Amino acid sequence: MSVLITNVGELVTNQPEADAGAGPGGSRRFAAVREAALVIDEGRVAWTGPASRAPAADQVIDAGGRAVLPGFVDSHAHLVFAGERGAEFAARMAGQPYQAGGIRSTVAATRDASDDHLRANLRKLAAEMLAQGTTTFECKSGYGLTVRDEARSVGLAAEVTPEVTYLGAHVVPPEFEPDPGGYVDLVCGAMLDACAPHAKWVDVFCERGAFGRDEAAAVLAAGAAAGLQSRVHANQLGTGPGVQLAVQAGAASADHCTYLDDADVDALASSATVATLLPGVEFSTRHPYPDARRLLEAGATVALATDCNPGSCFTSSMAFCIALAVREMHMTTQEAAWAATAGGARALRRADVGHLGAGARADLVMLDAPSHAYLAYRPGVPLVAAVWRAGERVAGG
Ligand code: NIG
Ligand code: FE
Repeated sequence: MSVLITNVGELVTNQPEADAGAGPGGSRRFAAVREAALVIDEGRVAWTGPASRAPAADQVIDAGGRAVLPGFVDSHAHLVFAGERGAEFAARMAGQPYQAGGIRSTVAATRDASDDHLRANLRKLAAEMLAQGTTTFECKSGYGLTVRDEARSVGLAAEVTPEVTYLGAHVVPPEFEPDPGGYVDLVCGAMLDACAPHAKWVDVFCERGAFGRDEAAAVLAAGAAAGLQSRVHANQLGTGPGVQLAVQAGAASADHCTYLDDADVDALASSATVATLLPGVEFSTRHPYPDARRLLEAGATVALATDCNPGSCFTSSMAFCIALAVREMHMTTQEAAWAATAGGARALRRADVGHLGAGARADLVMLDAPSHAYLAYRPGVPLVAAVWRAGERVAGG
């Protein structure tokens, strides 16, 4: 059954007419049609254009002048965990620094939790994301850090998303403190063997206090040999080798990019590696925000994601990240909306989401607002009126 959504005040397609030949997902530019309409058929976008030229369909929905965007693509989230770290956040806000070592308290809680408990927490967060317009999300392991606990983490993640990331190399767990090299061997060996069948991606936290350049390179190489594509937690807490490693390894994305030198910016700008910015982390840790303008002006592809996790940033709201990107990182509302949709799709190497060109998966978010700009103009206000995923209405009356 085809559905026509008409009287759309602003339809964000990310598919400029002039770039129709630019391939799936179009160019790297925001694009929108005013007074628009869209037809969904068989779970896909069948047509977009001016409402005055819309074809007939089996069902008609009047958007009443509201804006419709591609569903958000959250390309970085850690959702398989137990416990919470609200007291750690409160202490940070009272002046304590963020320390990656806090990850270990979540590791202990996660190891102790039952499968059902982890599954329930994961599903609750996934539902929370969907209700806020996120129709595609990535989900990492990384709070298990034993063969058994990493394998169950990626297995649980695979129940809710195809974008599963093996992050055995999150931190060295306490029992391996005397032998970090032994832990890297495990991550590249038995743990990888147990996780690779459920995962698409391998990730590594390349940072002082986590994994150095050579260890991180070994993890990515082992992952690649097992068929996993790379992504890297890079340059979150200080300058370091993460971004260069990500580019050299052909990673889809270098995530965080908070502390970059000129060579890092050049490397990102001259590669296909997406710079994924996670401004909720800087909000929640009081680190300085990444310099998005420097990256954009150099020509890098920028994505926005939540990094939803119990430690450094516990938001699941892409709208909040857009508002931060606009207010704190000086991205335009159009750049931020693109980065949260098409940018995330590029960071996940997905051509079927993040845009509303003909043939795209019909993942839509309708705002109770006339334009995408309201996502930053009305921060903190729940603006999502309805959500469709693969053509099916999954939120909103
Ligand atoms: O992306 N950087 C490493 N991992 C997470 C933090 C996880 C935690 O603090 O529990 C991040 O910020
Ligand atoms: Fe992260």
